[in-house]
Amino acid sequence: MTIDLAALPEDFLWGTATSAYQIEGAVAEDGRSPSIWDTFSHTPGKIDNGDDGDLACDHYHRWREDIGVMRQLGTNAYRLSIAWPRVMPGGDGPVNAKGLDFYDGLIDALLEAGITPSVTLYHWDLPQVLQDRGGWPVRDTAHHFASYAAVVADRLGDRVKHWTTLNEPLCSAWIGHLEGLMAPGWTDLTAAVRTSYHLLLGHGLATQAIRAAVPGAQVGIVNNLSYIEAATDRPEDVAAARRLDGHTNRWWLDPVHGRGFPADMQEVYGVELPEQPGDLETIAAPLDWLGLNYYFPSTVADDPTGQAPRVRTVRRLGVPRTAMDWEVDAAGIENLLLRLTNDYGASKIYVTENGSAYPDIVRPDGTVDDPERTEYLEQHLAACASAARQGVPLAGYFAWSLLDNFEWAYGYDKRFGLVHVDYKTQRRTVKGSGHRYADIIRAHGRKRRNAA
Ligand code: FCB
Repeated sequence: MTIDLAALPEDFLWGTATSAYQIEGAVAEDGRSPSIWDTFSHTPGKIDNGDDGDLACDHYHRWREDIGVMRQLGTNAYRLSIAWPRVMPGGDGPVNAKGLDFYDGLIDALLEAGITPSVTLYHWDLPQVLQDRGGWPVRDTAHHFASYAAVVADRLGDRVKHWTTLNEPLCSAWIGHLEGLMAPGWTDLTAAVRTSYHLLLGHGLATQAIRAAVPGAQVGIVNNLSYIEAATDRPEDVAAARRLDGHTNRWWLDPVHGRGFPADMQEVYGVELPEQPGDLETIAAPLDWLGLNYYFPSTVADDPTGQAPRVRTVRRLGVPRTAMDWEVDAAGIENLLLRLTNDYGASKIYVTENGSAYPDIVRPDGTVDDPERTEYLEQHLAACASAARQGVPLAGYFAWSLLDNFEWAYGYDKRFGLVHVDYKTQRRTVKGSGHRYADIIRAHGRKRRNAA
């Protein structure tokens, strides 16, 4: 498969992505307090195989080796998240010096290795103490988030310029508070809508805090957007597709672009927003870039008796699927990149996550071949390059994920890494897809040099 690498800018960021709870382990070390994911993963029945993130990839102790793996891949960027409960174990108030020191050392080592750090402040691990005080349905949580953001930005901002406030707030709000499949595991529409609102308010306040602390900060938000098609052209299904678009795309994009919360969705939810004067302006603080996480497209039909947004997913026959049972269709990523550019006027976009899970086979000689993941990677990179060729200001791509890791409610069974992790020995092995990624990155570098 050819990838139009010449369409990608010279200073393109080639990265991998991870998140704190999924890889760090060391959950009770150096003053870290529990997060809602510690609580959730230790609640019987919530995680496949009864897995939890207690040890994960033990990255907290093996981060030097993991930077070595990044060097092997030849990546020039790395997207990581900071664990709020390491930095502020009380949720707000006193800072835990050891927690900040950990990230400080990691950032220095990344820079020394020529790898640009891209830091996410919230990848779902709310300190449990704040959950006990009401969590995201409560307005104060947004303010605590901004205080925590200020502390991290103040410490790392002399070296870190790429900042993400929230990763996929949709998951925190809808999956965590409406579907109950992620922490904190609620199924309460009112709480979910209030959560979505306070997350975006927290995003706006944190954006201000980062800008105040970091000259030249590049601030963005990361959304997992859906490419949606109606299963039929029945008006009911077309309307259902429009509702899912509101639920997963417009609800998250419109407010940060100063368009407010979509009126049609406010009607669907029927929940009053906890709005106070000035909030919408805060939420719409100007951003430097948008982050897109993309995995699969959705085909949907009307589900009149279902919960909001009253849609059901329809399986398309003959479409390949990953181990997550997610459809493989790279047209979705191209379409979404174009939409962010054309409908939302994005001036800079990063693909902040994209990847696939397959059951890997470790050969007797220790190598791991993963042709399906390799093909997924190639197809999606080709689609990204095609979008760039059409004028999308794509500035980087972060493969999900650097390592196999704790895949939330699916536990360790679902492997997304370009690098295999043997959880018994913590041995890391670059998979075939990782080698292919390294080749692609090298080929882009060669093109650049030849053009110069
Ligand atoms: C995204 C999450 C990431 C990972 C991938 C597979 O929704 O941001 O942590 O779990 O899905």
